[in-house]
Amino acid sequence: MTYKQLINEKLYLEEKYNQFKNMHLHLDMSRGKPGPEQLDISMPMLNAINSSSDLTIHETDYRNYGMADGIPEIKNLFSKIMGVEPKQLFIGGNSSLNMMFDVISCMMTHGLCGCKPLIFQKNIKFLCPVPGYDRHFNILSYYNIDMINIKMTHSGPDMDTVQQLVENDDSIKGIWCVPKYSNPLGITYSDEVVKRFSMLKPAAKDFRIFWDNAYAVHSITEKDDHLLNLMDECKKYGSEDMVFIFASTSKITFPGSGVAAIAASDNNLKDIKKRYSIQTIGFDKINQLRHAKYFMDYEELINHMKKCGKILKPKFDTVINKLTEEFKENSEFISWTKPNGGYFISVDVYSGCAKRVVELCKTAGVILTPAGATYPYKIDPNDSNIRLAPAYPSIEELNLAMDLFCVCVKLAVLEKKISTL
Ligand SMILES: Cc1ncc(COP(=O)(O)O)c(C=O)c1O
Repeated sequence: MTYKQLINEKLYLEEKYNQFKNMHLHLDMSRGKPGPEQLDISMPMLNAINSSSDLTIHETDYRNYGMADGIPEIKNLFSKIMGVEPKQLFIGGNSSLNMMFDVISCMMTHGLCGCKPLIFQKNIKFLCPVPGYDRHFNILSYYNIDMINIKMTHSGPDMDTVQQLVENDDSIKGIWCVPKYSNPLGITYSDEVVKRFSMLKPAAKDFRIFWDNAYAVHSITEKDDHLLNLMDECKKYGSEDMVFIFASTSKITFPGSGVAAIAASDNNLKDIKKRYSIQTIGFDKINQLRHAKYFMDYEELINHMKKCGKILKPKFDTVINKLTEEFKENSEFISWTKPNGGYFISVDVYSGCAKRVVELCKTAGVILTPAGATYPYKIDPNDSNIRLAPAYPSIEELNLAMDLFCVCVKLAVLEKKISTL
């Protein structure tokens, strides 16, 4: 385009943008939350236990204290979700993020498996595959742990860099991984990447992989991505102590009212159980039983997830179709992911434009995840990544929000182009 054409196009887009502004929209695409119609699917679970239910099972009264590491019924279910033996599990409260925070707190104040607490070690660091999950980074910020960006490839984190750093620097104490339908890219790690994780020989004895398998059963298409079992791989090399695996039912039933779990080696579990035995006499066994009774077996849980997927797929399609209609795929100006599951679509816009796009959308009434949130310290070096969360809004709302988003992307790119001419 000539300069004049660029200016004319900008004027045209500004007019369109102002029309959106006049609509006084109030739409939120900022967080990965199930929509109400998806939550409705889980409502019958609330009837799985009522005042007539017999809650004494194998002579244990589930209404009382006891079984601090979780009831056997929910361990059986999580063992299938997480691909580990029930004895490798510790069942917690309503949030896996809370358990991740707790493991890091344990590393900080007491150390794991006899290692020195991290608060007494200098310059400790974590590796953070980017773009990644903002709340993971927030935990590290809270403890002033340095964060090192690791590039994500189409098959997972750049393992050459991970291996080089982990095996040569004993100040590196951990890495965040969302191995299936990653937040926000929607990528599932390849077998090779998982194998390379299991074969790592960390310089630090207290290095841990935080394997946040939040989207283990969350496909939205017929094709469920395959993720190699990290714990099984680690067993081949005797490296089980290097791994903590996390999962929860937050995006299976009710976020904030679900059940969370950690899978770990005997050595790690010993430390974790000891810590939890100080902070609680036990978690909510009635909620655990409610979940276990509702999902009589793993197959039923998978059927339930298929129903959720059927609600999510058209929402993801709406976002992707709008982008495809408005832009050439994988151009210099914009590219986007097409995940088979999870909760997010990751969009990369022209370098230096993400903040502006999010700001333009916000001013016109559509809230997106803040630009930069997908990076440690909230700094996206290219200012290009935007996380779209299509699960919560209705299809009508998504159509409107995406129409606005596309106008904002074009406008931000034009502004940038014109400013550099
Ligand atoms: C990757 C990832 N891990 C953990 C969580 C939070 O899980 P929970 O509700 O079990 O704390 C989320 C929520 O969006 C997530 O995306």
